Amino acid sequence: MAILVTGGAGYIGSHTCIELLNAGYEIIILDNFYNSKRESLNRIKELSGKDFKFYECDIRDRKGLDNIFENEKIEAVIHFAGLKAVGESCRKPLEYYDNNIGGTVTLCQAMRDHGVKKIVFSSSATVYGMNNISPLREDMQTGGTTNPYGTTKYMIEIILQDLYKADNEWSIALLRYFNPIGAHKSGRIGEDPNGIPNNLMPYISQVAIGKLPCLNIFGNDYDTPDGTGVRDYIHVVDLALGHVKAVEKVMGCKELNIYNLGTGTGYSVLDIVNAFKKASGVDVPYKIAPRRDGDIATCYSDPSKALKELGWKAERGLEEMCEDTWRWQKNNPDGYPDD
Ligand code: NAD
Ligand code: UFG
Repeated sequence: MAILVTGGAGYIGSHTCIELLNAGYEIIILDNFYNSKRESLNRIKELSGKDFKFYECDIRDRKGLDNIFENEKIEAVIHFAGLKAVGESCRKPLEYYDNNIGGTVTLCQAMRDHGVKKIVFSSSATVYGMNNISPLREDMQTGGTTNPYGTTKYMIEIILQDLYKADNEWSIALLRYFNPIGAHKSGRIGEDPNGIPNNLMPYISQVAIGKLPCLNIFGNDYDTPDGTGVRDYIHVVDLALGHVKAVEKVMGCKELNIYNLGTGTGYSVLDIVNAFKKASGVDVPYKIAPRRDGDIATCYSDPSKALKELGWKAERGLEEMCEDTWRWQKNNPDGYPDD
């Protein structure tokens, strides 16, 4: 029996596939390469020393999904596939609702019709909205999202909760990621954003490598220790290991569970800049810019539920996150080669 990984060629998916293969699972990857390159699949094979099947397929393609479920013995699905750029989602809301929500509904219909009722879903801390006070706990109210991307995550959580209420043969884990950064220790796989990065860490590493002139820090007048925004950065390999625990959990129960995957520690933008400079030995010029719309001052997790129920805890610190990001950036200044 295999685990189907949708979006497995992407940033978090590729790291998770390696940890699943290392843990002895058989995997099948599905991706449409909207935001990833084929080369990441070669590198998953190289780093794990293991082979796997791959389907180039869109999660909105019901016939394509049926073909996979008919031909493969699939026990559970880890569902990463989706669009994730906050700014783009404001410009293209229909594409985001179609891809993320339409795609997830089609995937779940195909799963149901083929008797596969175990799913781990990539949700986000963004579902906590603007009004909760950190540390964020899973039982806090969600909603009040500030952009279509965030709203898709909130709505998919509701859809999956309704699905479980209607049929408790399902087993569902909703994983709320905080801010994944870092890369595999080898420097062979990592985050490969298209165009100018939206997120802090890829922006910093592209300034450090000389592709961008200067980091804009979005506001230094927040109510935080140094005035810059505070987030819960988590090493992508720790996040990947959280998925191995979560998939074990869904395969062993018929429940719906929600888990924060974060470290529980908040760092400011300036903390990250300084840690990156130290880890890389390279300067990161920055200037203070106006606040970015939709940003909040502080967002970090209470990760104790995942520790208690999954036996999972993030182990890698900020220094390692920066070192590993830098190794990936330095060794792959232009990301993965084109297909
Ligand atoms: P990513 O873009 O690197 O990976 C997503 C993968 O899904 C890509 O390979 C893309 O080609 C594929 N994909 C997109 N739409 C598809 C479709 N319709 N059919 C098939 N494949 C499709 O993103 P990531 O950072 O690895 O994020 C993975 C998941 O985690 C996403 O759902 C994202 O929203 C969620 N998430 C990410 C973050 C983050 O900061 N990276 C934070 C919270 C949640
Ligand atoms: N920041 C800058 N300059 C930049 C980019 C970011 O100062 O060029 C600051 C932001 O203002 C914020 C912090 O760095 O204070 C982190 O910003 P990111 O864009 O890296 O991350 P966010 O916390 O805004 O959001 C990310 C994802 C969301 C996801 C959320 C929680 O983009 O999709 O983490 O998982 F929902």
